[in-house]
Amino acid sequence: MLEVKNVDVSFRSERQTRIFGTDRTQVLHDISIKVDKGSCLGILGESGSGKSTLGRVMCGLLKPDRGEVYIQGKPVYESRAGKKQLQQSLSIVFQDYTTSANPRFRVRDILKEGIMAYERKLGKKVGQETEYEDLLKTVGLDSSFLMRYPHELSGGQLQRICIARAVACRPEIILFDEAISSLDAHTQVQVMDLLKELKEKLSLTYIFITHDLTSVTYICDNVMFLYKGRITEYLPVSRISESKDTYAKQLLNSIIVYEDEMTA
Ligand SMILES: Nc1ncnc2c1ncn2[C@@H]1O[C@H](COP(=O)(O)OP(=O)(O)O)[C@@H](O)[C@H]1O
Ligand SMILES: [Mg+2]
Repeated sequence: MLEVKNVDVSFRSERQTRIFGTDRTQVLHDISIKVDKGSCLGILGESGSGKSTLGRVMCGLLKPDRGEVYIQGKPVYESRAGKKQLQQSLSIVFQDYTTSANPRFRVRDILKEGIMAYERKLGKKVGQETEYEDLLKTVGLDSSFLMRYPHELSGGQLQRICIARAVACRPEIILFDEAISSLDAHTQVQVMDLLKELKEKLSLTYIFITHDLTSVTYICDNVMFLYKGRITEYLPVSRISESKDTYAKQLLNSIIVYEDEMTA
């Protein structure tokens, strides 16, 4: 359903090493991926490996230097129809829920952003007050949260609101970019359980970007290792330990070491 083909991305280098013209640093190298309908694809890599850049390309937010993204066979950057279709079928949940939710907005207004996106898609108003309650219920919260501000919620509760906002426009695909990374371990598990439940209930497809191997094994069906902007391994999570690729192994080890350091 969503396919990335031969994507290269480069950014202008901060240091000007040439007198004429500009130097560019290539951040993604020849990335091709297929996201199967109803699956959860993990994109795993250390910080700076290009995960968020790839996420932005997949969401239609960053045109690659080369290559294309296809939604149901339609090109996203080369055709308006493809871009529109992607916008209508994909929602995004970011890591930094504290900045992705406007601090001056009440929960109701945050949810309204998602509902309005759905109304634009439908071409008519939904306008029912029960919509808000239903959305809250979907993410395990009740209507007493509607008038609260983000600072009156815990990290886990606010991330649930961001998930509700993402679900409000009835997407087929949700992309999570380190969406649970800043939550404590216990809350991470609760939110991942919620995501699993929603995925079944709403027949969703997930793209789950993370630097955390444990969450990949908990929620993903397939995993793609990204190392310095290159895919080094792409396999089902059930076979993650069989990974042959040296970079993937290195990455697995470095992540495990990193986690040990974090808990030490
Ligand atoms: N808008 C940008 N301009 C210049 N460099 C960028 C930009 N966005 C990301 N980069 C660089 O691209 C590389 C990959 O970044 P990113 O995709 O954010 O990695 P990750 O999400 O895996 O941590 C990094 O070296 C980062 O500094
Ligand atoms: Mg990132």
